[in-house]
Order: sequence, then C-alpha cells, then structure tokens
Amino acid sequence: MYQLAPSMLSADFNRLGEQLALLEQCGCQWLHIDVMDGMFVPSISFGMPVISSIRKESGLFFDVHMMVEDPGRYVEEMKKSGADMLTVHAEACRHLDRTLQTIHECGMQAAVALNPATPLNVLDYVLDKTDMVLLMTVNPGFGGQSYLSAMTDKIRSLRKKLDEAGYRETSIEVDGGINSETAGLVLEAGANILVAGSGVFKGDIPSNVAQFQEKFNQ
Ligand code: DX5
Ligand code: ZN
Repeated sequence: MYQLAPSMLSADFNRLGEQLALLEQCGCQWLHIDVMDGMFVPSISFGMPVISSIRKESGLFFDVHMMVEDPGRYVEEMKKSGADMLTVHAEACRHLDRTLQTIHECGMQAAVALNPATPLNVLDYVLDKTDMVLLMTVNPGFGGQSYLSAMTDKIRSLRKKLDEAGYRETSIEVDGGINSETAGLVLEAGANILVAGSGVFKGDIPSNVAQFQEKFNQ
C-alpha cells in the first residue's frame, strides 16, 4: 500500500477547508498533521481545536505526528479530536511501550517516529505494538528543509529489519524534504507512506499530487 500524506503544516490556513477538500478530490486518502509544542521542537503549530474542527468536514485519514514532549498525556484527547493514527517520537516518551499500548486501547493506530540521529534499535522491543515507523528525513520542526541523504540507507536498513523480524506489513513513513525528485529514492529504499508539505502545497496542488501518484505507479 502506497500513500501520499500531504502535510497540513504547509497549507494556506486562511483557506484550509477548501484545500483539504481539494486533496480529497485529487484522490488523496491521508492527511499528515504536525502538532508541535515549542519544547520537543522550537516551533508551535496547532492542536486539538484545529483537528476537531477539520474533522467535521474531512473524510481523510488523520495521521497525527506528535512533535511534543511526553505525548502520552494527549492520547485520549487526540482520539476525541478525530485522530486515526497517532505517531509519537521515541525520544519524547519515557514509557514508549505503555504509550503505544494506550494508543491502541483508545482505538487508534500507533506509530513511532525517529529523529535522523536516533538508531533503529530503539524499536527492537516494541515492533509488536507498532503499526508504522516514521523516519524523519530532516530534523523535525519546520517545513521546507532539504532531504538528508544519509537517510536513504536508514530506510533500507529498517525495511530489512522489519522483513527479517516478520513485520512485512509494518509501514515505513518518511517525512521531510520529500518532493517528486526524492520520492523515487525513498520508494526504492522501501518507504511506502510519503509525507510532503511544500511538495504538495507549493504551486499547483492537483498537478503536484498527480506527480506523486505517477511515482507510485512506476
Ligand atoms: C517537519 C514536519 C513535516 C513537514 C514536512 O518537522 O514533521 O511534516 O511539514 O515539510 P516538507 O515536506 O516541506 O519538508
Ligand atoms: Zn511531520
């Protein structure tokens, strides 16, 4: 299963509803939602009120990326706001296993995100509770940064690790600097969910989405 997950952080917030409806018309199924707390990352983005507001009109799958310290505090509220999948950073969780379990108990899918410098072995004992691994391909915090080329090998190693451990169904999502040029690299390395902020919202949304969809069909 390949998915493009447009990152709402790069949307025009003055025309948010309109742009999200356009994504659905273009055949997108996922929406990547970056929640930032000004602590885990320097910036502050948006939280529960915005998510529950867009939930009323959107049929997209809400892939919520928690760039916050101790995200376990917000699991229930995120479910109530309309999240379908909650991604927490391994670096931000003191009790990662418990947090993943709570996400499942609340009825959401659970994912673990790793910063570029975080090794893959932090996943070793939680693979059975992880529906998706999010590999950051930039340092988190801002849209519009360049893809870190060392991440291509990391994606490849993770795909191998998951396959060898019997987790062929576990998705790999990549986030940061993904555009129609870097898409080919990450797909070839084994990623199947591609987050793109500027790659989707900068310029003409329908033709940007179509370029990604072509890559998935190649
Ligand atoms: C970065 C965020 C990303 C961001 C990606 O910290 O997690 O989701 O929106 O933006 P682009 O695709 O522009 O690099
Ligand atoms: Zn993100």
